[in-house]
Amino acid sequence: MQTIIHKNAEQVYDAVTKQITEAVRIKPDLVLGLATGSTPVGIYSRMVKDHQTNGTDYKKITTFNLDEYEGLEGSHPGSYRYFMNDKLFDHLNIDIQNTHVPSGTGNLESACKQYEKAIENAGGIDIQLLGIGINGHIAFNEPGTSFETETHIATLTEETIKANAKFFGEGQQVPLRAVTMGIRSILKAKKIILVALGKEKAEAIQKMVRGPVTELHPASVLQRHPNVTLYLDEEAASYLK
Ligand code: PGA
Repeated sequence: MQTIIHKNAEQVYDAVTKQITEAVRIKPDLVLGLATGSTPVGIYSRMVKDHQTNGTDYKKITTFNLDEYEGLEGSHPGSYRYFMNDKLFDHLNIDIQNTHVPSGTGNLESACKQYEKAIENAGGIDIQLLGIGINGHIAFNEPGTSFETETHIATLTEETIKANAKFFGEGQQVPLRAVTMGIRSILKAKKIILVALGKEKAEAIQKMVRGPVTELHPASVLQRHPNVTLYLDEEAASYLK
């Protein structure tokens, strides 16, 4: 695992954006794995700015997002499809048909299988962007999730529901379940970029890097992947010193 520590979040956003936009320029049909949450927002706004100023071309890019809440249509402002369109896809020259977010409605079991197949048919994910939960989750793979999982229906922990409540309006309930790429699906990505910011992620990062590889701390499985780069600000890296 390579660890790159920057002074603050802004510098982390700049560095990760550079990695992604360079990869898009080198391989115009890149398959990008994308994440939601607060952490990637600064990266997506920079990708949009780069597209507007430097013309980085997304015409042939394919994307796969990690997860989606159960029961939310893409038009729901709390859904991850809405988030991705709003923060990124609507502002790039990407073909929306080539952007994939798991479906949270309809027959979820068969949608999970189809999602896995669609990733395979696209030739696999070249670069997967990841965040990490304070409990060590990656995507919605909560502590205790088997390392063998592919795309599946996951039950969220109370901690995650609380952390994500900020994305929902007052009085709106965070869904209790989600469709998520599994640990095995994530590990198939050729390269993984994990981004963590702030003191509240410091312990999760320390356990991921230095702790035992255990299903109780899902992100620790990344120790087994040959090409992972962590981008951290000083606060998130503070327990590594
Ligand atoms: P955050 O979420 O970026 O909103 O902190 C990260 C995650 O839960 O994976």
